[in-house]
Order: sequence, then C-alpha cells, then structure tokens
Amino acid sequence: MSDKPNPTSAPTPTRTTLHLLERMSRDARPFACMTCYDATTARHLALGGVHLLLVGDTAAEVILGLPRTIDMPLDLLVALTAAVKRGAPETVVMADMPFMSYQADDAEAIRNAGRFLTEGLADIVKVEADASFSTLVERMTRAGIPICGHIGSRPQQAALTGGYSSAGRTAEHAERIINDAIMLERAGCRMLLVEAVPAEVTDAILAVTQVPVIGIGAGSACHGQVIVLQDIAGLSTHPPRFAEPLADFGRSFQDLASAWADRVARRAVGGKPYQMKPGESDRFHGGTNIDSHAGRDGFGIGKRPMIG
Ligand code: KIV
Repeated sequence: MSDKPNPTSAPTPTRTTLHLLERMSRDARPFACMTCYDATTARHLALGGVHLLLVGDTAAEVILGLPRTIDMPLDLLVALTAAVKRGAPETVVMADMPFMSYQADDAEAIRNAGRFLTEGLADIVKVEADASFSTLVERMTRAGIPICGHIGSRPQQAALTGGYSSAGRTAEHAERIINDAIMLERAGCRMLLVEAVPAEVTDAILAVTQVPVIGIGAGSACHGQVIVLQDIAGLSTHPPRFAEPLADFGRSFQDLASAWADRVARRAVGGKPYQMKPGESDRFHGGTNIDSHAGRDGFGIGKRPMIG
C-alpha cells in the first residue's frame, strides 16, 4: 500500500503551521485536529490530511488505562509529544499541560511549558484555563511559548465539578466562559479550544474573539474541530455523545487478533522464512568441520544447541 496521500480525499497542504491555521480561520476554511499519542499513527493521520495533532492528557485514559486525565505524568506526555512530532514533522503539534504541571507555581509552569517546546518539539501548548490564568498566559507568551486556552468544560476540574460534564448551559455560566475567552485572548492566547458547550455559546465566543477557535462538542461553527482518535475510530467503550465513530477499528483489531491466533494454531505464520547462507546448511547438518567449532555438544544432525 502506498504511503502517499490520496489527492482526491486529502487535498490539504502537506505542511501546516500556526500561521496557516490562522489564515485558514480568517478565510473560513475549517481545519481538522485529532488527538494522537505515537509516531506511527501521527504519520498516517498527517498523510490523511489532519492539520493539527493534539497530544492530550486523555493519553492517561486511552494509552495508560488510568481512570482520570489528572493522572497523566508530565514526563511521559513530553516524550509522547516528541514521538508524535517525529512521526508528523510537517504538522502542527499541540501538547497538553497535565494536571499540576502549571497550576501551583507560575515559574514552574513556564519551565514545564518550555519543556514541551524543547524536549517535546511541540508547536503550541494547551492549558485548561479561565480568566484567572490570564497572568500566567501572559508570562508564558512573554517567554516565547504559543498558548492555546482550553475553556468551557475542563476535565482537570472534574474533582470540583463532580465529573466530566458539559458547560455554559446557564446564562451566567455561558457569560463566564465568554469572558474567559476574551481575557485569555487578551493575555496572548494564540488559539482557544472550547469543549462541550451549546453552539450558541460558541457563536458568542467566535463573535468576540479573533484567534482560531477549536471546538470539541461545541457545535460546527468553530474554525477547527478536534476529536479523540479512539472515540471516532470505534475503539472507545463509551465515547461521548458528540463523538460519532467513523470506523470500527475495535472490530478490525479483534479480527486481526483472531486471524493471527488462527495462523499460529495452524503453524502457518506467513512471511518469508530465513535461509541459511550458501553452503552453511550442509555444514550445519553434519558436513564439514562444524564439530570442531561447536560447543560442548556440537551442532550435528539431530542435536539442538545447548542453552545455559
Ligand atoms: O486531552 C485531550 O485529549 C483534550 C481533548 C479532549 C480536547 O484536551
């Protein structure tokens, strides 16, 4: 199978940058974002035409099998971010700052965000934020770190809110989120990501901000749309209501696993077996001097090498 993108199904530019995504937003050309956590998948998603890859703290759940996104270790997310960028060097990669990597102390937050740019090779760093994070965003931006402010539903707040939930469904809450958007853009956010809010709240955010707004469960008007890969690939057991699966990789993996198990059972593993180098088979099967070079029991016909 060719690695080349199909020009009819992937008419997107081969190289994406933050500037390009800003230009697409101004031109009302939607851009596609997906979560991704490894180099191989990154390569294929980029070839398929995805414009931005988000290395989210959802890795805690979908990669590590942990119960909550707040359990994501910082060092591992930095390493996964670099893996994704190595797999898709021409694509914008956004790294998610995990819980407690930016909330406790501004200096530590800036250093951690910087690690995502240097060790993690990220193009932009995302923080779950409200207006109270404006000073931190300002300081990070001053340090040279492009920031995306994640507003609306913020999964890292689940212990406070009682779980993962929608946001902005009362007039007061909607106004707070719109204010968050304004304040974070003013503080320097290069992008905003809005999660799980009614479409009318998104419309209001789009009306009062200039930067690209990426949505997830936030209606169709956003400049970009992001989705968790496992949710649309048919791999998640309980995808959220806004994530309609587009494939059934779960079934494909199960079919693949049983096809392999069947081959193993039939001793028909496929592929091309290795051959001995010319003449070596005869020597191995007891021809020439092999015994003089062999270990304790030699390698003669009918003998197996002694191990241990
Ligand atoms: O961590 C993540 O994958 C995210 C998306 C759900 C937006 O933040």
